[in-house]
Amino acid sequence: MKLCMIGTGYVGLVSGVCFSDIGNTVYCVDKDKRKIESLNKGNVPIYEPGLEEILKRNHKKKRLFFTTDLKDAVTKSDIIFICVGTPTNKNSNSANLKFVYSVAENLKRIIKKYKIIITKSTVPVTTGDKIEKILIKLKKKKLIDVVSNPEFLREGEAIRDFIYPDRVIIGTDSKKADKILKSLYMPIIKKTSRYFKTSRRGAEMIKYASNAFLATKISFINELANLSEKTKVDIKDISFGMGLDQRIGDRFLRAGPAYGGSCFPKDTKALIDTANKFKTNLSIIKTVVNSNNKRKILLTKKIEKILNKRLKNKIITFLGVTFKPNTDDMREASSIPMINYLNKKGCKIRYYDPSGEKKEFKNLKNVNFCRNVSSSCFKSDLIILHTEWNEFKLLNFKKLVKKRNFSIYDLRNLYSPSKMRKNKLNYFGVGR
Ligand SMILES: NC(=O)c1ccc[n+]([C@@H]2O[C@H](COP(=O)([O-])OP(=O)(O)OC[C@H]3O[C@@H](n4cnc5c(N)ncnc54)[C@H](O)[C@@H]3O)[C@@H](O)[C@H]2O)c1
Repeated sequence: MKLCMIGTGYVGLVSGVCFSDIGNTVYCVDKDKRKIESLNKGNVPIYEPGLEEILKRNHKKKRLFFTTDLKDAVTKSDIIFICVGTPTNKNSNSANLKFVYSVAENLKRIIKKYKIIITKSTVPVTTGDKIEKILIKLKKKKLIDVVSNPEFLREGEAIRDFIYPDRVIIGTDSKKADKILKSLYMPIIKKTSRYFKTSRRGAEMIKYASNAFLATKISFINELANLSEKTKVDIKDISFGMGLDQRIGDRFLRAGPAYGGSCFPKDTKALIDTANKFKTNLSIIKTVVNSNNKRKILLTKKIEKILNKRLKNKIITFLGVTFKPNTDDMREASSIPMINYLNKKGCKIRYYDPSGEKKEFKNLKNVNFCRNVSSSCFKSDLIILHTEWNEFKLLNFKKLVKKRNFSIYDLRNLYSPSKMRKNKLNYFGVGR
């Protein structure tokens, strides 16, 4: 099939590359000229393991194209995926849909032949109705079907998630669109995943409900970690014991810093905003958002406590700053408020992240990127294990730091507290 991905970010690029790998011809469009130029040279603008190899292979086979020419790409395609960003609006919690609607306005002028228009972007329930309204003339001429097909891939594991999804959700009442999309997804759903057709609004809601539920699970275990610390119980045992119950499951039940990333913070807020518009009180999700915001402060206070409130000129090393491993995405990473706060308090921050230096810290005096673990840890007063990249899992801290007194704050509970104590290290975990 011939597909057009509008928006070549984490979602559009990964989906486009993977769709081409299963034999489709894919036109990836972005308004960012530099991104497209770089992609045409085979350079991947994001950190996503395995993506470059598949991209180069399909680009070479001439079934994967990168362009800024929306009209040409849409005209050549049967299915149009809208994959643009839906960030939080500046002065409210609502999702900013200007990129989505601007694409719809453009499509209105381009489409002359039947196409399926899909929102892969995460959009609030009833957005599909509004897109259809923009395209009403085309709809009346039966030239379009507007479908919701939310994306569930996780950064860092995006290729695996795309090829082996737990489910493919299609929201449409069009039999024609359903039939075409089933055959598009057949090579994927043949494996293990389920193809679930529902209403367009239903599909839109499933995406938000899923993200809000996962955010709730994280906040739940994070709050229990606070209680575990006070009662001298190991939260890892609680997660494990709970997770053995198949109704609960052990995933997303690991205590750590506040959840971050490009999805959970914005989607929980947008869901509350949508509910408010429909005069519904989502009190649980409101509490989750609140709890997560508080957690950012709580963990910073703990850092102050570890350093006996003497922060000035203390050398603090962050190992990992991204919101999770195997991605370069810094959106809503909990390291940002932490580093900003500690920097203001006069700490000297060093950080090392395998995905490279971050623009978020470039203009901060006394916040420096180091090229490896050893240069970042050398003579540090406190090491904060912020992101669980593999290379942080087996470190010999004494050899790295080469200093008598230093502390380790393991926000991911990667190390055993008893072993650390045996080695006479001043070690703090989360909820243990
Ligand atoms: N990142 C994730 O892990 C993830 C997972 C599931 C769903 N989503 C959802 O998918 C959507 C996209 O997320 P993302 O992380 O890929 O965003 P992103 O910011 O990485 O990429 C969006 C891209 O769209 C481009 N764009 C914006 N307007 C355009 C236009 N009119 N024409 C062409 N290109 C345009 C931008 O230049 C950018 O490259 C969001 O709604 C997000 O919530 C993201």
